[in-house]
Amino acid sequence: MSMVPDTRHAPLAMSQDEFRRIGHQLVDQIADQLAAIPAGPVTRERTPAGIREALGLNGPMPAHGSAAGAILERAVPALFANSLFNGHPRFWGYITSSPAPIGILGDLLAASLNPNVGSWTLSPAGTEVESTTVRWIAELIGYPGDAGGVLVSGGNMANMVGFWAARAARSGGDVRAEGVAGRGALRVYTSAETHTWVQKACDLSGLGTQAIRWIPTCDDLTMDVAALRQQVDADIAAGERPLMIIGTAGSVSTGAIDALDEIGAFCRERGIWFHVDGAYGGFAAALPESSAALRALALADSVAVDPHKWLYAPLEAGCALVRDREVLRAAFSYHPAYYHFAEQVTNFVDFGPQNSRGFRALKVWLALQHAGVEGYRTMIRDDIALSEHLATLVRGDDRFEFYTQGLSITTFRYVPRDLRATIGDEATEKHLDALNRELLDTLQKGGELFVSNAVIRGRYVLRACIVNFHTSKADIEAVPGVVARVAEAIDRKLRA
Ligand SMILES: Cc1ncc(COP(=O)(O)O)c(C=O)c1O
Repeated sequence: MSMVPDTRHAPLAMSQDEFRRIGHQLVDQIADQLAAIPAGPVTRERTPAGIREALGLNGPMPAHGSAAGAILERAVPALFANSLFNGHPRFWGYITSSPAPIGILGDLLAASLNPNVGSWTLSPAGTEVESTTVRWIAELIGYPGDAGGVLVSGGNMANMVGFWAARAARSGGDVRAEGVAGRGALRVYTSAETHTWVQKACDLSGLGTQAIRWIPTCDDLTMDVAALRQQVDADIAAGERPLMIIGTAGSVSTGAIDALDEIGAFCRERGIWFHVDGAYGGFAAALPESSAALRALALADSVAVDPHKWLYAPLEAGCALVRDREVLRAAFSYHPAYYHFAEQVTNFVDFGPQNSRGFRALKVWLALQHAGVEGYRTMIRDDIALSEHLATLVRGDDRFEFYTQGLSITTFRYVPRDLRATIGDEATEKHLDALNRELLDTLQKGGELFVSNAVIRGRYVLRACIVNFHTSKADIEAVPGVVARVAEAIDRKLRA
C-alpha cells in the first residue's frame, strides 16, 4: 500500500505570489508582442525541424518538472517568433479573423473558472452566459431569439449539428436507434460551392457522400434554384427522399450568397428541412443594408454561424442554431443513470455532441459587450468596404485580372501585360497557372502580406478575405505594388 503524505506538495501547485508574478510577466510579454505585430512580418519562413529545435520539442518528456517561470520564459518568445499572426493587419488568408483582445483575456478567465458547461449544476454561470450568447447571436442575425442553440468548435461542427438535427427530425422513424439503413435513398441538396463539411457530415452520419446532389451554380456562383427544383422533383418522382437542402450565406471561395429567400420558399413548399451555412457570411445579415437573399437565413430550420470568423472571437467558437429548441434537444439528448441533472434548467450536454464542454461562450459574450451591435456592424461594414476598395484597385490596374468581389472576399490573378491579349490560350493559361501558384506560395512565405487562393471556372486565382479589424486603407493600397513586384520576379524566372 502506498503511503499517504501528511502534507501534500503537488508538482503542479503554484503559490499565489508565484502565480501573480508569472501571470503579470506573461500579460506584459503578450501586450508587447501584440503591439509589435503590425511592424513585423505576418509570418517567417520556417521548417518543421527549425521549429522543433527552437521550442525544444525533440527530446522525450522530462522525467522531472522545472520552474514554471523558466518554462514560460523560454516558450513565449519562441512561440511568437515561430507563429503566423492572423491578427496582423495584412493577414487575409482563408477565413480566419484577427482575435478580439477582450477575447484573449476571456480565454484566460475561462480557464481560471474552468467550468464544465455540459450541465447547469457544474456550470451555473457558464450555462446562463452561453444561453444568452446564443440568443444574442440569433437576434444579431435576425433569427428567432428563442431558437435552440449551442456553441461548438467552429463552422464544421456547427453545420454538422444542424445536419444531425435534420437527420434526427426528418429521416422518418427512430433513426437515432435504428440508423439510416432501410430508410430509402436519403438525399442532401447543395451547390458545388459548398464547403467540404457537407461531405464529412454525410460520411460520418452514415448517409455516404453519394447522398449529396451537387446542384450547379449560376454565373455568380450561387446555387441555380431552377436546377435545384428540377433535381428535387425528379428524385421525389423516382421514389428518393430529400432530407435537407443546404444554402450558403457567403461561400468559402468567393463570398457568394445563395438566393436563400427562394430556396427557403421552395423548402417550405415541399416540406424539406432548410439548413443555412452562414459560417462566414451569416453575421453580415446584421447589417440593415444586407440583401433580402441573405436576411432570408431567418427562414431556415437550422443555421451555422462562426463567432471565430466575423465576431473576431479567438479560435475556437462556432454556433449552431435550430429554430425549434425541442428538435435540437431530440437529436442529442440521452439520460444515463449516472447523471443527476435537473430537467428544468439547460444542460448543454442535451443540445450537442459534446459531453464535457469548456466555457467558450465567455470570450464571445465579452466581445459582444465590448463592441455592441453597432460596433460589430461598423467592423463588418469596414471589412466589406476595404474588400470592395481592393476590387476597385485591381480592376483599374492592367497588371491584374479581376475575378470576383463578394462580402469581404476579392479574387484576382496577376497577368503580365504582354499576355493580356492571349488570356484563354492554352500556352498562356499554363504560364499564368504556374505563375500564380508560385506567386501565392512566395507571398505566403514572404511575410509582407498573406492571401490564399481559389479556383474559379478552372482558373487559379489569389483570394483576399478581410475579416480583420486591424486592416486599414493603407494596407489595402499596398497590395497591388507588393503582389506585382513579387510576381514580376517569378515571371522573369519562369520565362528564363
Ligand atoms: C462557408 C463555410 N462553412 C464552413 C466552414 C468551416 O468552418 P471551420 O473551419 O470553423 O470549421 C468554413 C470555413 O472557412 C466556411 O467558409
